[in-house]
Amino acid sequence: MSATAAPKPRILVVDDERSLREMLSIVLNREGYEVMTAEDVGSALEHIRRGPLPDLLISDLRMPDGSGVDVLRALKERSPSSIGLLLTAYASADTAVEAMRLGAVDYLTKPFDVADLKARVARHLEAKRLAETQVAPPEGRKGQGFVLAGRSRQILDVISLVARVARTDASVLITGESGTGKEWTAREIHLQSSRQAQPFVAVNCGAFTESILESELFGHMKGSFTGAVDTKKGLLEAADRGTLFLDEVGETSLGMQVKLLRVLQERRFRRVGGTQELEADVRFIAATNRNLEEMVRTNVFREDFFFRINVISVRLPALRERAEDIPILAEQFLRRFAERMGRPVQGIAAETMRLLLGYRWPGNVRELENVMERGVALEQTAELSPDSLPPHLMDQPSASPAAMAALEAIPAAGFNLETHLQQIERMHLERALKQAGGVQVKAADLLGITFRQFRYLAKKYQLK
Ligand SMILES: Nc1ncnc2c1ncn2[C@@H]1O[C@H](COP(=O)(O)OP(=O)(O)OP(=O)(O)O)[C@@H](O)[C@H]1O
Ligand SMILES: [Mg+2]
Repeated sequence: MSATAAPKPRILVVDDERSLREMLSIVLNREGYEVMTAEDVGSALEHIRRGPLPDLLISDLRMPDGSGVDVLRALKERSPSSIGLLLTAYASADTAVEAMRLGAVDYLTKPFDVADLKARVARHLEAKRLAETQVAPPEGRKGQGFVLAGRSRQILDVISLVARVARTDASVLITGESGTGKEWTAREIHLQSSRQAQPFVAVNCGAFTESILESELFGHMKGSFTGAVDTKKGLLEAADRGTLFLDEVGETSLGMQVKLLRVLQERRFRRVGGTQELEADVRFIAATNRNLEEMVRTNVFREDFFFRINVISVRLPALRERAEDIPILAEQFLRRFAERMGRPVQGIAAETMRLLLGYRWPGNVRELENVMERGVALEQTAELSPDSLPPHLMDQPSASPAAMAALEAIPAAGFNLETHLQQIERMHLERALKQAGGVQVKAADLLGITFRQFRYLAKKYQLK
């Protein structure tokens, strides 16, 4: 429920100045990183050749035997996802530009503030970890910090709202159907906020009984209940100065809501069985796929608590409401999984894309992600073919115009009218072309459209 234990991130420090190397080594070690050092470009290159490869490189820019840029270039060749942080004695725009072009994420001018360096290191490593455990960030991320992919009006609105919200400390409520990216968005807000270098702690409020959730959140004192053999800090303390993500907040009991309300109002709390008041310096982000307003009306959710957590609300649209995002997301997942699994598939066949666009995606982005993972694993060629999709995507009602036309009512699961009409259009174009023996002018005549219109549509639907 909190961040999972991951291997220690590795950092390579390269500087010809011994005192600086030693200082960084001690400071970063204390932060829990595994630190390697090199005193010049030559031995840094040797480190990179031999491995293990660092997740992050901190390198001086100018050294007697060469430049930190060369070290970064060598590292990027072997490990493209590694991050470079360059140290320069003078802030020169040229070197900064050159470093950024190489994929150095950051640079610092000497002398630098150690606290600032630590914060940047933590943030870059966290961003790298997130990108690896989930999906590679889209190209646009560098320098601007977004991992929310998409080009629909709706998602662009979400992205700009996230950027504005991140600058405040206000409580946020994220709503949306299952799999729309609620946790993903919460993490993004955290990463863009001033709390970015501090922990992001997620707790699933629906997964525990009230008393367990209480002691998980607030911690408990030794002996405060049977089984409390030791004093334990809660997640509120773990998230100190960071962000606490209350997932599935709609599942909390009324009793728990009172306790959380108090923390939100007073920014103080006590461990279970404790007498001491502790301070909660935490930013709250809550998420739910339920309709809290309705729950307030029916008295299963407290109105005062609702207003406290819902200072700013972010609504994530269902994937079917923003079908324009399907191609971008699908291609991004495809690239990611193909690279990760070492598979040959590079693109998506037009027919496959048509099926992806026509599907309703009840499980939203997560379902699309799963479908692409499965597809990449099954596909033997360079293009993802319809056969590599799960069967229910192939024979969805909306994918079959004939079946749709035979229906008297709209299926309960609904369908996408635009896709449906396009499929019918395509079907008639194919029929006409076949009947006309492949002669386009004749096919156009059969359909009562001009040759130009026919040619345009044939191109749009990629008819042979
Ligand atoms: N805009 C986006 N760009 C890229 N990936 C996304 C985007 N939105 C969601 N994802 C992907 O979808 C997956 C599901 O997102 P997330 O777990 O945040 O959904 P959720 O709304 O919390 O779902 P649930 O309600 O089931 O908990 C993530 O792992 C992420 O890979
Ligand atoms: Mg979630």
